[in-house]
Amino acid sequence: MKKIINVLLINGPNLNLLGTREIEIYGNLTLTDLINDLHKKSKKLNISLQDIQSNAENILIDAIHSSKNKNIHYIIINPAAFTHTSIAIRDALIGVEIPFIEVHISNIYAREHFRSHSWLSDISSGVICGLGLDGYYWALKTIYNRLIKSNNKKT
Ligand code: DQA
Repeated sequence: MKKIINVLLINGPNLNLLGTREIEIYGNLTLTDLINDLHKKSKKLNISLQDIQSNAENILIDAIHSSKNKNIHYIIINPAAFTHTSIAIRDALIGVEIPFIEVHISNIYAREHFRSHSWLSDISSGVICGLGLDGYYWALKTIYNRLIKSNNKKT
């Protein structure tokens, strides 16, 4: 029987504006386009994907806390601007002890200086940035490689 991996995808503030927001940086696909595509790709990888987007820090923190009870194996998070400000999100991720990949659509190191600091990168199990929306797919693929492909090889 194939192992199913539960992944929670978290998108932070202003990512609900994808498709209309700073198109030259974030592209013209909407969040709905992205999520629909990732659900299709997840199915092919045997990943059960749940997703949340919120502009509120407390809602993102609550989603991280409840992922423990929901048996989430891995988190993919684009914390958006909270990347650069939120020790509370950092503490929540440390608190639940669920591995996570940090994704940024843009290359945060090639933009304003304040974006080059992340409160999450050093505790993450990987960071993807500057690959556009493809970065989310590579995060899924990495989780697949780490949790499913490597297990199949052993058995
Ligand atoms: C972002 C980069 C952040 O600096 C910014 O605040 C965002 C999006 C990205 O995906 O490139 O909202 O996380």
